[in-house]
Amino acid sequence: MAVPLLDLKAQFVGIEAEVRLAMDRVLASQHFIMGPEVEGLEREVAAYCGVRYGIGVSSGTDALLAGLMALGIGPGDEVVTTPYSFFATAGAIVRLGARPVFVDIEPITYNIDPAAIEAAITPATKAILPVHLFGQCADMEAISAIALRHGLPVIEDAAQAIGSEDTGGRRAGALGLMACFSFFPSKNLGCFGDGGMVVTDDEALADRLRVLRVHGSKPKYHHAVIGGNFRLDALQAAVLRVKLVRLDGWTEARQRNAKFYDQAFAHLCPDHLTVPAIRQRRHIFNQYVIRTGRRDALMEHLRSLGIGCEVYYPGPLHLQPCFADLGYRPGSMPHAEAAAGQTLALPIYPEMTSQQLAEVAGAVTDFFQA
Ligand SMILES: Cc1ncc(COP(=O)(O)O)c(C=O)c1O
Repeated sequence: MAVPLLDLKAQFVGIEAEVRLAMDRVLASQHFIMGPEVEGLEREVAAYCGVRYGIGVSSGTDALLAGLMALGIGPGDEVVTTPYSFFATAGAIVRLGARPVFVDIEPITYNIDPAAIEAAITPATKAILPVHLFGQCADMEAISAIALRHGLPVIEDAAQAIGSEDTGGRRAGALGLMACFSFFPSKNLGCFGDGGMVVTDDEALADRLRVLRVHGSKPKYHHAVIGGNFRLDALQAAVLRVKLVRLDGWTEARQRNAKFYDQAFAHLCPDHLTVPAIRQRRHIFNQYVIRTGRRDALMEHLRSLGIGCEVYYPGPLHLQPCFADLGYRPGSMPHAEAAAGQTLALPIYPEMTSQQLAEVAGAVTDFFQA
């Protein structure tokens, strides 16, 4: 039985009628830019995260870009971040003329290693940008303590982590000065195209973000600062509002699926593979990532059986050709480089049937026991 890595159609059939009604509401209003749907979603996502303000933007990438712009980050500035993430994390920093200063990851969680952050801070450092990779928060207690000691803001890249909680039960989005979410379709809360949001509890920052989102225009056609077109579409907001009320149910299904795999793979650990390590209170499993020295052969085996799997990410950011002038070399970030060669994401989406789960688990087990 073929099992896709993600099956968005399986989700859509359960919400189709409601989504169509929500989209019809927008079509009838012909109000496509900003307006009540976007404002409603902003309130609801902010409340979901436990903060006061949400600023809907055009993507997770633009959330990062606008967030860094709101802090005034630019040429000559440094931002400490992880080399093991999607490209946008570092791309947003470099697009503003600033320099990403990479710090290696914890080999167990794949998140930035707080112990390595302090040594990377220089007088040019303007922010710390941790990523809550795969749906588990970085160690924000340790990171916040470092940030506080150095008077630095923390921007959470929470693109993969909506609803995740740290050890103290605080949600991603409420753990730094601001957090950036992505509503890319493959995220736990995904729209029908691109979308994102910045959330914050800081009123002045929220105001700046709202201005930056519309080309820096305030009042209209007066530009004291340069922003961009970072707006979220009303149609996307309407879809996301239908989905947000179901998010916790979907997250629980992902957690159940993760538990099924954990149990199914227990006899293979740690000799053949490792399963995700839970170090925070709530992992939302945007991805279920196993690790094995035989990753490429396992991937080939699963794909030959029609089982979807993917490598997130095959090349760490510090070794990307476009960042060659930053001066990193193979060996600079040993944990990130090792993870990039050994990790593999398996299907974990909420609508998976028990048969599909068993199929994936059986295929992985057969591979190692052959
Ligand atoms: C960690 C991380 N940061 C940023 C982004 C960028 O989000 P988007 O694709 O919505 O621009 C993504 C999404 O893929 C991501 O996974």
